[in-house]
Amino acid sequence: MAGLSAMEKKLAEFKCNTNEAIQLKLVRFPEDLEDDSTTFNPEYSHQVFGDDEVAFGYKGLKILLYYNAGNLSTLFRIKYTSKVNENFDCVEADDVESKIRKIIPPGFCTSTDDFVSLLEKEVNFKPFGTLLHTYSVHNEEAGEDITYQIYQADMTCPGFREYHERLQTFLMWFIETASFIDVDDERWNYFLVQMLILPPFQGEGHGAQLFETVHRYYMSSPTVLDITAEDPSENYVKLRDFVLVKLCQDLPCFSPEKLMQGFSQEMVTEAQQKLKINKQHTRRVYEILRLRATDMGDPEQSRGYRLDVKKRLIGPYKKKQRELAKMRRCLRPEELTNQLNQIDLNMQHEQLEESFQQLVSDYRRVLERLAQA
Ligand SMILES: CC(C)(COP(=O)(O)OP(=O)(O)OC[C@H]1O[C@@H](n2cnc3c(N)ncnc32)[C@H](O)[C@@H]1OP(=O)(O)O)[C@@H](O)C(=O)NCCC(=O)NCCS
Repeated sequence: MAGLSAMEKKLAEFKCNTNEAIQLKLVRFPEDLEDDSTTFNPEYSHQVFGDDEVAFGYKGLKILLYYNAGNLSTLFRIKYTSKVNENFDCVEADDVESKIRKIIPPGFCTSTDDFVSLLEKEVNFKPFGTLLHTYSVHNEEAGEDITYQIYQADMTCPGFREYHERLQTFLMWFIETASFIDVDDERWNYFLVQMLILPPFQGEGHGAQLFETVHRYYMSSPTVLDITAEDPSENYVKLRDFVLVKLCQDLPCFSPEKLMQGFSQEMVTEAQQKLKINKQHTRRVYEILRLRATDMGDPEQSRGYRLDVKKRLIGPYKKKQRELAKMRRCLRPEELTNQLNQIDLNMQHEQLEESFQQLVSDYRRVLERLAQA
């Protein structure tokens, strides 16, 4: 046993967390290659390395995936300080290289010199497609405003298909349930499938700029009725709330007087017709704007708000209760204990209050951001 655990201990040293081992970088100048401050790591690597996000067989594993910040030509290198030896250790190291090769398109560089010479050649890179929006963001470090542009491109733009293949790998690293998009699937154009701002640029307002630009782009298309995302992440919902509230706040249907009268068909119709916002999203916008118009220090106003929001939140619980009532009718008493019902009801009150408090705190954050915009 002692021998086994010593062996286990030894082998454990050859396990590397792949979220740490994978090192990503957007390179503009050759000196960026040696600058650790520009390196960032994935949030997820389970789709490539399994749920444990571990690669076995190496000590000090580094999987370098460096990209030219313009057209994303890629440098892929694997480094490690030591590796298990099949003959000596009787175990085989994971084939990290082939796992990565499966998710990056061919044509990448394996030598730093080749990559650097490409950097120089591709210095005049221009984004693909049509320019939709230009804006600037103040950069503290540089002490100046930096201009950014948002382009719209599709597979008919020469070179974009190959660029998109290189770009897609990032989805694996930053979207938990990401899957590669089949660009030949016609339906691709009908869904806003995934949205990603790379970590070095997060928290600077680019997400909001991008969301608003995409929304305005589809808003102006006569064939689009609704703009929505499938299975949105928490951060995405925050971003959407902020942008939709910003777009809606000046609509006449959201005047403070109308907000205090409750959610109305007028709001649904106006938001749908003018901004292509669906009923569910309009309801959230209403709740956020009503919170702004409500004096939460006033017991009556605050009670009115709480009841109105909770009435919506309770919808799914009511459904559950109806199901429970149905079960009660169908099951014998010994199959459905009173105790079970009781637990369930207590849970509902607590959960409802918790959901309400969480929601209000999320809404307050949106309003704070709105006040700063
Ligand atoms: C979700 C995502 C797109 C947001 O992009 P982003 O560019 O970071 O978004 P923004 O910068 O507009 O807003 C993010 C936060 O930064 C804050 N912020 C924006 N500009 C800022 C500035 N100049 N200074 C300080 N903070 C700022 C915002 O207030 C917001 O904070 P909050 O969440 O506390 O309200 C991005 O985090 C991402 O790609 N995540 C991984 C993939 C993902 O989840 N995609 C969505 C589902 S497909």
